[in-house]
Order: sequence, then C-alpha cells, then structure tokens
Amino acid sequence: MIGSDAFAIAADDELPALTPRQEREFAYHRARAATLDGLAEKPVATDVLSEVRRRPWNAYWSLYDRIIAASPAGKRVLVPGSGFGDDAIRLALLGARVSAFDLSPESVAIARERAERAGCEIDFRVAPAEALAAYDDGTFDMVVFVDILHHVEIAATLREVVRVTRDGGLVLGDELYTHSLLQRVRESVPIARVAYPLLRRWIYGRGEPYITPDEHKIDEAELALVLGALEAPQLEWFGLVEGRLFPSRMVWASRVDRAAMRIAGRAAARLASRVVFSGTIRASAV
Ligand SMILES: C[S@@+](CC[C@H](N)C(=O)[O-])C[C@H]1O[C@@H](n2cnc3c(N)ncnc32)[C@H](O)[C@@H]1O
Repeated sequence: MIGSDAFAIAADDELPALTPRQEREFAYHRARAATLDGLAEKPVATDVLSEVRRRPWNAYWSLYDRIIAASPAGKRVLVPGSGFGDDAIRLALLGARVSAFDLSPESVAIARERAERAGCEIDFRVAPAEALAAYDDGTFDMVVFVDILHHVEIAATLREVVRVTRDGGLVLGDELYTHSLLQRVRESVPIARVAYPLLRRWIYGRGEPYITPDEHKIDEAELALVLGALEAPQLEWFGLVEGRLFPSRMVWASRVDRAAMRIAGRAAARLASRVVFSGTIRASAV
C-alpha cells in the first residue's frame, strides 16, 4: 500500500503519465478527499432501486428506470469516473458484474471500502477515462455515465469506451449539459457577477460548491459526439430552472420544472441543464 493511512491505496493503482487537465483534476480531488471524513463508512442509498413509487421528474431516477428496464443482472457493466462508488455498488446490488474506475486513487480507496461493507465484489481501478489500457476490446455489455463527461476529454473517452464495449452494448448516461447559446448568457456579467453569487448559497447550501478548474457542462456539440456513437439514442431533458433558480430539494418545483421541459418540445435541447440518454453502440463506431 502507498499513500496516507487515511486512504490506503493499492500499489498496482499506477496511473500513466497524465495530461495537464488530468493533473489538475487529480490534484483537486486529492485535496477534496483530505477534507472528507467518514465517507468510507457511509452506506450507499438504495431507494432509487427499491422504491415502488418512481420519480419521473428527477433525472437520476429516470436513469435508474432505464437501467432497471435493461435488466443488468449478470451483465458486465463499466462505470467510468465512479467517484465514491455509489453507482458501481447500486449496479452490483442489481446483480451486474461491475468494473469501475476513477482518476482519483483516494476516491477509489473509499469506493472499495464501501463496496466491501455492502458485500459487493467490484473490480475498481485507478485510471483516466481517456486511456483504458486495463480493459480488453469488447469486454462490456453496458456502460453507465453519471456526472463524468464534463470532467474528461470527450472524444478520447468515447474512443476508449467504444473500444471496450461489445458491438451492440448499451450506453446510458445522466449528465450535466448546457447549450452553448445559454452558456454565453450564463457567462454574461449580470448572471456571473450578480445573480450567481446571490443564488449560490440558496442552491448549493453553505459548503463550497464542488467545481474543478477545468470542468464545463457538456454542450450540444459534445453531446452530438456521444450520440453519434449510438444507434437510435433516446433522450430526456431536465432542469429548466431546477439547480439554476431553485435547489433540487424542492420537489414540487422540480415536478413543475419537468412538466415545463416536456411542453418545451424541441426547445428543451436549448434550455436544459441535464440530459439523460441511452442507446446501443453503433456497429460502425466500433
Ligand atoms: C462529479 S464526480 C462524479 C463521480 C460519480 N460518477 C458520481 O456521480 O458520484 C467526477 C469524478 O470524475 C473523476 N475524474 C475526473 N477526471 C477524470 C478522468 N480524466 N478520468 C477518470 N475520472 C476522472 C473525479 O475523480 C471524480 O470522481
């Protein structure tokens, strides 16, 4: 083992040479992990798996509706950028044979401990999404992205994910998204300098928001790269003002927000702050 006692890191968790962006992500998550206490002992919430009454207004629950409908039991599932292991553990609890990786050795150490406590056998690795030398071609039946694409180089990551997924394998995701036109508005002085600082605490609570130096919500061109690798992709848009003007904890407002996105039709792709997608790997993408 290497590293501090708080995060025992396996010696074979060696990373390749990192790009400057990966270096900054690595350093950010190392510093963040040092501020987190007791996370390894925190059990993973499983209501999204077991609750009979579903929450179709919530992007994350909608992703899990799709995952459950795809019957992951017995399938080989890859979870890129697995963080503290929540989704990898949930998929294992659904009976999937899970492999998961993250750039942060500290996060992987926490995820391994949580999986052990949950009685799940998961192959966790430390790796950058852009270089997945640890996995052979065509290994996985399913890939589940959650809040990771805005941290990585999308084209390189897709190349690797397509390579390690079998022809016809299913890709699902729930990702942060903002159309480039709306992003320009978000970056304008009145929004960035006035509205955002005023709303920040209301939306994110008292803690520092978790935002790395390089992350940016994926835009329509990056989403098109992902969808271009998929056969007949299915999309759902979320978050007109949820997470922008009010926090996700306001359930009634989230329900209204989701209804507004449905009414928005094609305009939803310009307005949304989240996208849930799924589709099978296109044969020509492999
Ligand atoms: C917002 S967190 C999401 C974690 C997890 N998917 C979740 O939903 O809880 C982003 C994660 O991406 C990881 N990450 C950042 N850059 C990465 C890269 N190039 N390759 C793999 N993981 C990366 C970070 O270490 C962090 O755990």
